[in-house]
Amino acid sequence: METFKAGLEGVVAATTTLSEVDGARGELTIAGFPVGEIASNATFEEAVWLLWHGDLPTAQELKAFRAELAGKRELPRAATSLLREAAGANLDSMDALRMAAGTISLSSTDAARILATMPTILAAYSRLKRGEEPLAPRRDLGHAANMLYMLTGATPDPERVRALETYLNTVIDHGLNASTFTVRVIISTGSDLVSAVVGGLGALKGPLHGGAPGPALDMVFEIGTADRAEQVLREKLGRGERLMGFGHRVYKVRDPRADVLAAAAERLFTRAGDMKLYRLAREVESVAIRLLEEQKPGRHLQTNVEFYTALVLHGLGFDVSLFTPTFAVSRTAGWIGHAFEQQRANRLIRPQSEYVGPRGRKWMALADRIAESHAG
Ligand code: ACO
Repeated sequence: METFKAGLEGVVAATTTLSEVDGARGELTIAGFPVGEIASNATFEEAVWLLWHGDLPTAQELKAFRAELAGKRELPRAATSLLREAAGANLDSMDALRMAAGTISLSSTDAARILATMPTILAAYSRLKRGEEPLAPRRDLGHAANMLYMLTGATPDPERVRALETYLNTVIDHGLNASTFTVRVIISTGSDLVSAVVGGLGALKGPLHGGAPGPALDMVFEIGTADRAEQVLREKLGRGERLMGFGHRVYKVRDPRADVLAAAAERLFTRAGDMKLYRLAREVESVAIRLLEEQKPGRHLQTNVEFYTALVLHGLGFDVSLFTPTFAVSRTAGWIGHAFEQQRANRLIRPQSEYVGPRGRKWMALADRIAESHAG
């Protein structure tokens, strides 16, 4: 029998042409492109096409794909009433997204439909929670621009669209992370795309995966001013807390996505004329890295993608509750790309466990167990 690997660390469980995570060099390649190339140049639709088809689209393909997504943004009626109930119960946004994503089976289960409806669900839920009615999607806008429109009701300016697309492209795929693995496991059983995406959403929600940016931003706000960073972070580490936005299972150097998003955040905050939060975040980052090295020497705990995700999305005016769902809007494209790959060369994913429990026990009837406990 193979030896047990906690967390499957270092185990290679799939081959992929979608992305490569080089943890030692701190490099992320998306279908052959360094992440920085795709992040700030591609539209989200181009990045998705690249993942799903292996190459950039022609002008005609891109036009048709944009139109296809734009035509598939409407939600089934059941999704909206479910979201209304969820808002009434003040459910977590990721729970609402997961529940509503399951209703997509009522329309159709094709990949474009699933991807196209994610921002509609997110925006509808956000508006319902604020006591506002959901807005119908606009066909004349791209995926990112329409998402911003559905959230605010205003046509977004190109720089905000670019910032959101940069974010979405940066996190679109990332090797065999926990949620992508979940998706591949579900698809490997012969199950469908909606089921796989719903499973992916469940895995992404956790604070050790996609749930970190909210707490990362809370931490920066809690610190408030740079001179408090050391004291607050020391206290957190002293209590055994993890600093959100730092550390990674694969990267042992700085997460390359953090650089891409730090640059995007800097552009956004410079434009808004308010660099205070950005500068504070950079201070907090450098103190956090220093303290992590001091307290966990040799662990190489560096900034991960979530730290600057928080800053970019906050700069876009997103509420903290939208951070992880926005990650999901993008990662759904990666999940579907992996689902296609898994379907093309499928083998049921079925690892083994190592039994470490007792053996050779003898059955004792309930009456005898009661008698024994009374006797004891
Ligand atoms: N703050 C404080 N200590 C940390 C942190 C952190 N952010 N990350 C790891 N450590 C510590 C661990 O407690 C452990 O210490 P120990 O050996 O004394 O017990 C040591 O560093 C090694 O950590 P592991 O748990 O082995 O690292 P693992 O690979 O399991 O965890 C993870 C990676 C989950 C991302 C972790 O670094 C973490 O919890 N970070 C904070 C949450 C976060 O930012 N998540 C987003 C990740 S990016 C993404 O998924 C999109």
